[in-house]
Amino acid sequence: MKIEFVAHDTPISATCAVAVIAFEKGELSEAAKALDKASGGAVTRAIAGGRFAEDLGQVLDLIAPHGLQAGRALIVGAGAKAALEAKVMEAVAAHAYQSVKVSGAETLVIQLPGAPAALAAAAAFGVRLAAYRFDKYRTTEKPAKKPSIKKLKIAVDDPKAAAKAFKVESGLADAILFARDLVSEPANILFPEEFARRVKALTSLGLDVEILGEKEMKKLGMGALLGVGQGSVRESQLAILQWRGAKDAFAQPIAFIGKGVCFDTGGISLKGAEGMEEMITDMGGAAAVAGAMHALAARKAKVNAVGILGLVENMPDGNAQRPGDVVTTMSGQTVEVINTDAEGRLVLADALWYCQQRFKPKFMIDLATLTGAIVISLGKDLAGLFSNNDALAERLLAASKASGDPLWRMPMPPQYDKNIDSAVADMKNVGPRYGGSITAALFIQRFVNKLPWAHLDIASTAWKPNSTVPTIPSGATGFGVRLLDRLVADNYEE
Ligand code: BES
Ligand code: MN
Ligand code: ZN
Repeated sequence: MKIEFVAHDTPISATCAVAVIAFEKGELSEAAKALDKASGGAVTRAIAGGRFAEDLGQVLDLIAPHGLQAGRALIVGAGAKAALEAKVMEAVAAHAYQSVKVSGAETLVIQLPGAPAALAAAAAFGVRLAAYRFDKYRTTEKPAKKPSIKKLKIAVDDPKAAAKAFKVESGLADAILFARDLVSEPANILFPEEFARRVKALTSLGLDVEILGEKEMKKLGMGALLGVGQGSVRESQLAILQWRGAKDAFAQPIAFIGKGVCFDTGGISLKGAEGMEEMITDMGGAAAVAGAMHALAARKAKVNAVGILGLVENMPDGNAQRPGDVVTTMSGQTVEVINTDAEGRLVLADALWYCQQRFKPKFMIDLATLTGAIVISLGKDLAGLFSNNDALAERLLAASKASGDPLWRMPMPPQYDKNIDSAVADMKNVGPRYGGSITAALFIQRFVNKLPWAHLDIASTAWKPNSTVPTIPSGATGFGVRLLDRLVADNYEE
């Protein structure tokens, strides 16, 4: 979609849908007042004649109002005027887009006289997120079913300032959409080496990207990660992304680690057929980390950050890992693999250890579509936050609020740790069924060597088959990208 910031006298034609804002208690914005006047009172009549209550996201669609050039005018409810900040504007613009995206209108013009540049940028950002569509494999879709909106125009007092403000937001949108694409891709296309190739392309943004193959990981002793991938014909990979934006290029970095299981069949502990296709999203943690690194590089964040992606495919095979196998992790600790479907924690164990050994980071945050149990605990709107450090957890919760990627803190009761003790090895990879997300977090914690760490279980939020959030079309959400970007911006830049 083409996005332009334009002056208020921008020409309007019949293929335009013009959107204006209305607030609660029938209060019209400047633009809505002007539209009301030009149309001989169509706006006030439409509001008076229906149930439009100006709640956030409510849209009134006026067809070919008399006195206007536009084919349609949208009155978009924005709630309380005093509460109109960037996140609200994002949602308002996204709702406007959703309501006309397949209407036949070709240009959406959002009129924001008097709005500061940051709010105008937020509107464009919201529409970019709302307009995301993964349609590259659809060859026979009828044009009439495809989105008709080709262009977005935001009409503002100072188009230049708005365009400038949008530069940063636009980089973040690119990063979120990059993550969504990775999550949406099927596993026959996006296997570990292909994932690695796609992050390698981020070098164009100034990131350093290294890829380790199985031979190198074997030398490093990554028996847990390699065990997961050993049943796949696809080679496992470890991707290491570095952004050096701090004044001192060697200053201690912060680190993000992502679970990148490109497909999770469960392995020999095979999953049921029902819904298994959703396991193409089991690399959502790695996608979020890649997206966050993309975002930091795009806005040249003044921080040193490392992203580590453990990329594998979990398959059943004659050479696959068996239940009962004992693997030796890079840390030296041994693991009895009770269930080959609890593979994410095995991948993270080695990725986290590698990260600590090589980079000695200030803190680590891992993101993983780790357990079905987190969906049972928190539902589909919240990701689970586990941490050994209250300060880091608080900062993440604050970033969650600011970014709109929702988190809920979960407990890590020490008395549950013994549930993963094993009779034959240092630990086993699963505990009892109850509290499954907690045991998973406690397992990962055994690979954290005395530094602040947080684990985000995003199995609940990486993929939304029925989204009602206007900026998140159903499917891949890109969860985590904004969150980490916000966390860095608010706490860790020079
Ligand atoms: N990738 C799954 C978790 C998952 C479930 C992600 C639903 C997204 C949606 C993970 O590898 C897994 O299979 N976990 C098992 C753990 C169990 C064997 C202890 C689970 O949740 O059932
Ligand atoms: Mn699994
Ligand atoms: Zn998995």
